[in-house]
Amino acid sequence: MLQSAAKVLSFASATSVSRGIAAGIRHYCKNTPTKLRVSQALSGAELGSNIKVQGWVRSVRAQKANVFLHVNDGSSLQSLQVIASSELNDPLLTFGSAVEVTGILKKSPHQKQPVELDAKQINVVGECNPVDFPFKIKERHGLEYIRQFPHLRCRTNAFSSLLRIRSEATAAIHSYFKDNGFVEINTPIITSNDCEGAGELFQVEPSGPDHADGEDFFSVPAYLTVSGQLHLEVVSGAFSKVYTFGPTFRAENSQSRRHLAEFYMVEAEISFTQSLEDLTKVMEDMFRFATEHVLAHCVEDVDLFHKHVTPGHRDTVDAMLKNSFPVITYREAIDILHRSSERFAFPTDWGCDLKTEHEKYLVKHCGNIPVFVTDYPYDLKPFYARDNQDHPEHTAAAVDLLVPGVGELCGGSLREERLNLLSARLEEAGLEDVYSWYLDLRRFGSVPHGGFGLGFERYLQCILGVDNIKDVIPFPRFSHSCLL
Ligand code: 4AD
Ligand code: MG
Repeated sequence: MLQSAAKVLSFASATSVSRGIAAGIRHYCKNTPTKLRVSQALSGAELGSNIKVQGWVRSVRAQKANVFLHVNDGSSLQSLQVIASSELNDPLLTFGSAVEVTGILKKSPHQKQPVELDAKQINVVGECNPVDFPFKIKERHGLEYIRQFPHLRCRTNAFSSLLRIRSEATAAIHSYFKDNGFVEINTPIITSNDCEGAGELFQVEPSGPDHADGEDFFSVPAYLTVSGQLHLEVVSGAFSKVYTFGPTFRAENSQSRRHLAEFYMVEAEISFTQSLEDLTKVMEDMFRFATEHVLAHCVEDVDLFHKHVTPGHRDTVDAMLKNSFPVITYREAIDILHRSSERFAFPTDWGCDLKTEHEKYLVKHCGNIPVFVTDYPYDLKPFYARDNQDHPEHTAAAVDLLVPGVGELCGGSLREERLNLLSARLEEAGLEDVYSWYLDLRRFGSVPHGGFGLGFERYLQCILGVDNIKDVIPFPRFSHSCLL
């Protein structure tokens, strides 16, 4: 249907193919235009060639003799300027419409852009009524406004930059692990364990006429995973260094600016650890590697955030990369909070969970750079955390990484590898039968090991300075967001 509305206006086109061959792009026929992504066209490698670009119109300006367009296809923040004779103008050529443009790529006389496309043919593939379209030409819409349109917001500069950064950060994290000898393991999405023991689970049941209400499809209750840790622990018992990066689900407060019901978590598990330092080193190295990679490979996209969306945040990122991350114990954290003159809404006594307000204060106190907090009270941490038996206060060898603007970014621990201590703790919790397989890991070739999880959306919030977690995930699921 969109295609039937297409209107084609054409002039004879000329072709120059030799440069394309030199640039490694194959041309099948002299007169067939080379299809390029906008980013390829902007690189200038195809100057003088007959090319075709396909994308969406970001601006239209008609003058007496010419019409000027900017066409964007998501391959870069920059759009390609198209210049066409006014005979090629068309009332359907509006902001937001989808187009296919063929013409000769030329060096631009203007300094702002390196090249421009001298159009010989413009085909309006899909029209867009600019009055009804929620985004307006030349307006810089805020993240809150564009969040109302989860099905259209990838057409805005800010959100398309975010998606490119997200994709590049994902690739960087995989590279980090690959370069450092980790094996990627796909841990299950449907599982019967509540790794964190916090009960924030989404239960999975079959639906449809062949199934009774509340039926256990697998004969035992099944849930969407809250963490791949226990499965990683299984595999770290043969591979030493493993990781997973996948969707994670928690039935948590959907109004929060740092919680999602469905988010992505990066988790690593390492065998033969000596101390928490073996984990903090990987957390810090991965953070630096991914951030430096994103800053180097997404220059324009990151600049858009640091200049227009969250001005001033670049200084915070630079400070994070310049300084090594300090380490304080939970005991020291409590003492810092007690000494502060700030009035906290939640208590700060030994044994209290650190809340976001405390985490943010601690980060500021340490110079507004990421800070590790170690050795939490034993009773605050899940059954798998290793007992620090040599500490005067009863603590577990657990570590959180707190970062500017967000608070907790990573949570990890050494795992209790000693069979007698682990089985006693599981027995106390009435879980020894459910976790008999987990105890087997301690029966057969148990080694000191540990790992951590990093919330990927919180990571993006941290490096971009974005306040609301719903603005860094393609399709956030929250109450009233049932559109998608
Ligand atoms: O601290 P958490 O709960 O740790 C675990 O799940 C461990 N089993 C991980 C491991 O050791 N393999 O979660 C890890 C991180 C948190 O620090 C936070 O950044 C993120 O996951 N996170 C969330 N992010 C968005 N929305 C939520 N509801 C989140 N819950 C946790
Ligand atoms: Mg945690």
